[in-house]
This record gives sequence, structure tokens and C-alpha cells, in this order.
Amino acid sequence: MTESETPVRIRQLEDTDIGGITALDEKIGGQYRPEIWERRIGYYLRRDPEALVVAELDGKVAGFMLGEVRSGEFGLEEPTGWIEVMGVDPDLRGQAIGRRLAERMLSHFQNQGASSVRTLVDETMTEIASFFDSLGFEPAPLRSFVKSL
Ligand SMILES: CC(C)(COP(=O)(O)OP(=O)(O)OC[C@H]1O[C@@H](n2cnc3c(N)ncnc32)[C@H](O)[C@@H]1OP(=O)(O)O)[C@@H](O)C(=O)NCCC(=O)NCCS
Repeated sequence: MTESETPVRIRQLEDTDIGGITALDEKIGGQYRPEIWERRIGYYLRRDPEALVVAELDGKVAGFMLGEVRSGEFGLEEPTGWIEVMGVDPDLRGQAIGRRLAERMLSHFQNQGASSVRTLVDETMTEIASFFDSLGFEPAPLRSFVKSL
């Protein structure tokens, strides 16, 4: 840990963290969405609980990252780790919390037999792209398609 790193505790998410994640999401996005987080975390907990990671500081959720190992989807047969949702407290950014959440997540993916990790980033979210770039992620030749319904 370097001097600029806040001494957070990186651990597996527990269902009692839903309130903390809801509060952090509200701080990041400005919307209070308790039902969404209740449903989303319940869904993730049923799939791969170890791929739900939080950073705790003074008993509060300072950051979180949710993911999963999948295989056989999008034409990717080999087990692949996916990072799907994350957030770090805006007051605590730049202190390697995101990096430490990702390290824990990637080590879980490796333990699950994944040989690569993927994520999707909206092209307008350049900060998130820079974050993944710093972690060694590279652009992948996999196009996303969308159609309005
Ligand atoms: C992206 C995010 C997770 C980064 O968290 P963080 O704790 O500040 O990141 P870290 O301090 O661990 O930084 C890790 C690396 O990413 C880089 N990085 C992080 N944020 C960056 C930014 N905004 N611009 C450029 N680079 C950035 C850092 O420079 C660092 O690189 P280094 O180790 O080579 O110096 C955080 O900014 C965030 O939560 N953003 C909003 C996420 C969001 O919108 N989620 C909803 C959609 S899933």
C-alpha cells in the first residue's frame, strides 16, 4: 500500500451492504434507488456471491464492484470474468480503491478458471475507459449492437 492509499478493507459483499451501496449509488448518480439495488444484489448473490466485492472504510461502503464468470455466451466458450457494475465514493477516488476492488475480483475470476476478464464501457464514459486502461485492459474486437424497442 502506498502513502496515498486509504486503508480500506476489501471483502465479499454481504446482503447487509445493500443500504450502503444504495447510498453510494445515490451519491454518485443523484438518484435514490433502493428497490433496484435490492433486486440487483439479490440476483447477483444467487449467481456468484464471491464476485461481489466491497471496499469498507469506517464501517461504510466506500466502493463496490459486481461481476460474474460466464462461459458459452457471446460466442466466448472459455470461462470469462465479466466486470458489470462498480462505483467508488467520489470523495475517495484516486486512492487505488477501484484498483484494489478489481484485483480482488480478478483473483476470484482466476480461481474460477477464467483466463480473461472483460467489461463494456460506453464510449462517452472516458474516465471509466481510462481506469480500465490503467489496469491493463485493451480494446477488444467484440462489437455491441442495439435496437430500440
Ligand atoms: C472509475 C472508478 C471506479 C475509479 O475508481 P478509483 O478508486 O478512483 O480508481 P483508482 O484510484 O483505483 O485508479 C486506478 C487507476 O485508474 C486510473 N483512473 C482512475 N480514475 C481515472 C480517471 N477519472 N481518469 C483517468 N484515469 C483514472 C488511475 O489513474 C489509476 O491508474 P494508475 O494506478 O496507473 O495511477 C471511479 O471513478 C468510479 O466509480 N466512477 C464512476 C463509476 C460509474 O459511473 N459506475 C456506473 C457504471 S458501472
